Amino acid sequence: MNTLLPRPNVLSSLSGSYELAVGATVSGPAELADAVRRALPVLDLRPGDTGAIDVRMDPALGEEAYRLVVGSRGVEITAGGRAGAFYAGQSLHQLLPDATYRSAVTTDAWTVPGVRVEDSPSHSWRGLHLDVARHFLPKREVLRVIDLMGAHKLNRLHLHLVDDQGWRVESRAYPRLHEVASHRARTATNYFREEPTYDGIPHGGYYTLDDLAEIAAYARAREVVIVPEIDVPGHASAILAAYPELGATGESFEVLDRWGISPAILSPLPPTVDFLTAVFDELLGALGATPYVHIGGDECVLDDWEASAEITAYRRSLGLADVGELHGWFLRRLADVLAERGSRAVVWDEAFVAGGLRKDTMVMPWRGMGVGRRAAAAGHSVIATPVFPLYFDYAEASSTQEPMAIGDAITVTDVASFEPAPSSWEPEERERVVGLQAQLWSERIPDARVLDYRAWPRACALAEVAWAGEAGSDFMGRLERHLGRLDALGVEYRPLSGPRPWQQGRPHRPAVVPVMNAMEHLDEMTHSATSTRPSV
Ligand code: ACM
Repeated sequence: MNTLLPRPNVLSSLSGSYELAVGATVSGPAELADAVRRALPVLDLRPGDTGAIDVRMDPALGEEAYRLVVGSRGVEITAGGRAGAFYAGQSLHQLLPDATYRSAVTTDAWTVPGVRVEDSPSHSWRGLHLDVARHFLPKREVLRVIDLMGAHKLNRLHLHLVDDQGWRVESRAYPRLHEVASHRARTATNYFREEPTYDGIPHGGYYTLDDLAEIAAYARAREVVIVPEIDVPGHASAILAAYPELGATGESFEVLDRWGISPAILSPLPPTVDFLTAVFDELLGALGATPYVHIGGDECVLDDWEASAEITAYRRSLGLADVGELHGWFLRRLADVLAERGSRAVVWDEAFVAGGLRKDTMVMPWRGMGVGRRAAAAGHSVIATPVFPLYFDYAEASSTQEPMAIGDAITVTDVASFEPAPSSWEPEERERVVGLQAQLWSERIPDARVLDYRAWPRACALAEVAWAGEAGSDFMGRLERHLGRLDALGVEYRPLSGPRPWQQGRPHRPAVVPVMNAMEHLDEMTHSATSTRPSV
């Protein structure tokens, strides 16, 4: 029976089985053998000349592709590259009992059933987004998320490192970013901007540049690419609390302590580009090779640009007709800075609607796949990120038992049924959809326990679609089986039948539920996707 999740291209049972012992040897090219060993840490596998596991390289396979054959004489892995070897190791891991997902084992050997697997991913971008700005997630938890991503063959971790409510990276060039912008005195406990209630508890935290270097290296070893996001020019309250001179008005700001869209915006003038260039240099210096940098571009309130005589004069000097064009120009300028450093820019869809992007800029259509299709038709690579069904800050059920969420409902089945590149699109539009990514916005995710609940098992469905192209008809059965692995890993996922008693109240859901229906929200967003302006 196939128990692998995500579903492999081909899996067939073979006669015989193999007894795989703790401390068994892995032979083959060191880089590939190490990748297999990393996928099965508790087995304490050793490098050796002849191995219970023999790994070979086959350049004819894609970098992420592999073949895995288990027979009575041992395990044979053929991989197209290091990533393929790592994923073969992950599939081999799933052929072993759930106990091998624990951090320590009391058994010396396990029987691996005879099997042949041939496998490669459908999508190159298999992403998860963490909003560490609204609520900070300590480094140890980010490393744990990376482990879980590796186990599900997910390979892009998008870190939303700044928003109105906090800046989350050390800066030696601009130290007030981590000294001032990384914390707030209190946090709103509801969504009503007119009548906020507050918890009175300080919140904050940031990653040092050494932390970021560690996160990136840890991720790389698990075939996960870190995609840092510096979300500009909007969502700027935290940056402006530290450096108000970078704003469009010079007025003072505080790190925002409530939710919703703020009018705080960076000035588009050259000092802001110089500031962001210095920040990018620090980030890229810490992260090492960084193929993608997200520069945001969403939910910009452009009124302060419109009202400023200096910005208007600058816009006119550039020959731009309106502030919308200036928005697009500013992001293109930053994308050029990144291109000089070997990184490709990624933006939210408002930046595409603003116009004037570099052709190689990648677009994340969060306001629906309609705007995603337009970006693909215009030649951009697209990463499917629509609110429905990929915003995992929405509850999984319309139930007062669910912990408070921004809205409801997005179920495991909704995610498993998602078609990132619909068959009704033109072939060249579909080809430009490089993958998909789930978003974990954290206004309502205060800590790692709630993060687990929101992320899993929906991210299992994400992994299935991202790797296999579409969920298999046996997906729910494999998922039920897979939850035993998550139990062994200690993941506090949402049970398929609903929350456990202690998962119901974090954070508290008020009796009157001010949540949005996910489909209605997406509908509203789809209509606003012709505009760069926020609709809220
Ligand atoms: C977004 O949800 N503002 C990208």
